[in-house]
Amino acid sequence: MKIIVTGGAGFIGANFLNLFVPRFPEHQFINLDKLTYAANLESLRGIESLPNYALQRIDINDAAAVDEIFEATDPDLVVHFAAESHVDRSIHGPREFIRTNIEGTFNLLEACRKHWPSGDGRLFHHVSTDEVYGSLGETGAFSETTAYDPSSPYSASKAASDHIVRAYHRTYGLPIKVTNCSNNYGPMQFPEKLIPLMVLNALERKPLPIYGRGLNVRDWLYVTDHCEAIWTVIERGRIGRTYNIGGNSEKRNIDVVDLLCHIIAEETGSDPSELLALKEFVADRPGHDLRYAIDATRIREECEWEPKETFDTGIRKTVRWYLSNQSWVDDVRSGEYRKWIDTNYGERAG
Ligand code: NAD
Ligand code: DAU
Repeated sequence: MKIIVTGGAGFIGANFLNLFVPRFPEHQFINLDKLTYAANLESLRGIESLPNYALQRIDINDAAAVDEIFEATDPDLVVHFAAESHVDRSIHGPREFIRTNIEGTFNLLEACRKHWPSGDGRLFHHVSTDEVYGSLGETGAFSETTAYDPSSPYSASKAASDHIVRAYHRTYGLPIKVTNCSNNYGPMQFPEKLIPLMVLNALERKPLPIYGRGLNVRDWLYVTDHCEAIWTVIERGRIGRTYNIGGNSEKRNIDVVDLLCHIIAEETGSDPSELLALKEFVADRPGHDLRYAIDATRIREECEWEPKETFDTGIRKTVRWYLSNQSWVDDVRSGEYRKWIDTNYGERAG
């Protein structure tokens, strides 16, 4: 099988390729990535020389380039990760989110429609987020029938892309599947997101910026559990159907940060109170969703998928990964990263 993986140099895409390129030598994987600030080729060192892997540096907003790569490779499967993915960045500058997440997805769908006239044996797998459902109150969980109610430009752009993907199935019969997943964490995540940002700041004894009072709740899933879930849906899920993916692991942000401080202290032989004292409450995120939780009954019952990691095992693995991969960390914390930290946290402190 020939598989195009878009956004394969980002956090989840790279974890996906690191798992499946060696596991399936009979499949050819083509990583189609623009290599934005969020990409890191260091994440692909372990697989870059394997004969069933190739990188094509392509912007999915370039319709002609997308069409050409379809013409040249004739893919059987597209796994679509490429996106602008950070909520805070979407608040500062929504344009790229609208372009890449909506128009980029549209370009890929158009290429599928043109190159897969019958659609037989092909699949477009769209990787999406639970943020399309908006915010929960104190109780309840998102199911696949929960109405869309996105809060940020990021989640609204992902919601739009989900609708377009499903419309291509209903209108043109394009074989698609959609997965909506909760918060991922694990190795190789860009340190703009909560967990890697807190780990790296704590190691450097920098402030740990907590939005609002830290009472917002996220459901956390270890990244390789997400990747395995996607593969399971590709193999066993029904065409045209949506599957929610979650970790059954709801945590308040403040509790995540406290736990990280304790694990980092243990792993580095330092005093936890020194790290806990770095916590700082800063201005809240506008439109900050209170709580996410996933009802994963469908994927569990139809595809027999369950997460393997608990939050306790996964978070310790994650901390250890950042502690032992300093060169990866140095590589991503370039000028662009510094600029973002000044923009986002400079404003909040003010
Ligand atoms: P990321 O920001 O780490 O990586 C995104 C990748 O897409 C990068 O390699 C980047 O270079 C590439 N990319 C961006 N714009 C592109 C363009 N125009 N053309 C080609 N490539 C482009 O993102 P991530 O956290 O790995 O998320 C991957 C996907 O999973 C996204 O679609 C996101 O919405 C979804 N998702 C993420 C999470 C999460 O917790 N991170 C949870 C659920 C769903
Ligand atoms: O739910 C899935 C989504 O999870 C994905 O679709 C997104 O791509 C991914 O970025 C993530 O979105 P969040 O906004 O939930 O993740 P983030 O790591 O940015 O924030 C997690 C929580 O931590 C959120 O409530 C905001 C808070 N936070 C975040 C940062 C960066 C802080 O309190 N301080 C911070 O510095």
